[in-house]
Amino acid sequence: MTASSAHPGPLGAPASLLDLGGRTALVTGAAGGIGRACALRLAAAGAKVRAVDRDAAGLETLADQARGLAGTLEPHVLDLTDLDAAELAAAGTDVLVNNAGLQLVRPIEEFPPDVFHTVLTVMLEAPFRLIRGALPHMYGQGWGRIVNVSSVHGLRASAYKSAYVAAKHGLEGLSKTAALEGAPHGVTSNCVNPAYVRTPLVEQQLADQSRAHGIPEERVLAEVLLQDSAVKRLIEPEEVAEAVAYLCGPQASFVTGTSLVLDGGWTAH
Ligand SMILES: NC(=O)c1ccc[n+]([C@@H]2O[C@H](COP(=O)([O-])OP(=O)(O)OC[C@H]3O[C@@H](n4cnc5c(N)ncnc54)[C@H](O)[C@@H]3O)[C@@H](O)[C@H]2O)c1
Repeated sequence: MTASSAHPGPLGAPASLLDLGGRTALVTGAAGGIGRACALRLAAAGAKVRAVDRDAAGLETLADQARGLAGTLEPHVLDLTDLDAAELAAAGTDVLVNNAGLQLVRPIEEFPPDVFHTVLTVMLEAPFRLIRGALPHMYGQGWGRIVNVSSVHGLRASAYKSAYVAAKHGLEGLSKTAALEGAPHGVTSNCVNPAYVRTPLVEQQLADQSRAHGIPEERVLAEVLLQDSAVKRLIEPEEVAEAVAYLCGPQASFVTGTSLVLDGGWTAH
């Protein structure tokens, strides 16, 4: 049995009942693996989902997949490096899921400074601007949910991921600060922190990791990605979306300023 084949199988019905009828939810990176699962989960809960991504074709596919769900899904093509547009796009949202991200695996001395800048812009500065854009409406109504898709790399470093680790650690700080400021206004802010999720971002990383670590691609999954995980499989995007749904629900109203770690035991070491 390979490490990745140990998953118990497709998930059944969503574990937590969540009613987001009448709520607007913005999900960034909605055309990708985790963002797509979050957008569909929140639409299934009845939300009007504003699905943001720079990938127009991916958003169209997502809109097709969302047909028939309790809520609605509105594709919004946007490159989050346009920070002013990002802040504007967040106006009027009740639930904000900061999820868009990108990765480059390269030693620091070879890491292109322009890519470092882009990673920090999309994964830290854009979330700040989106939160900034969303807060006036959330504060006005005394309710809001901010969920930041961080990573184990928001809590632990790995070699060759300087920009990603720096951005995720920064996102953790931004999320905690938003929690402190938002609490008197009924706004919670939390991170979810998955280990490696079965998405294109991870699949594209296998070749890069193989080069950086000097081992064949087929050994990267077991020897690099799953090395520190006690549960030897990738986590599915739908499992991450379920954690996001929990943080948006009424049972999580006291949960704020924290990080919900979904790492198969990685950080238990
Ligand atoms: N895949 C994993 O193993 C894993 C683990 C932990 C955390 N995460 C985090 O989850 C989030 C989603 O990752 P994923 O694995 O679904 O990745 P993905 O590559 O499948 O999706 C990322 C999405 O972000 C979008 N995006 C990137 N740059 C953008 C920009 N400038 N403007 C607008 N959209 C942009 C992409 O088009 C893509 O649709 C990221 O923040 C990532 O760091 C992923």
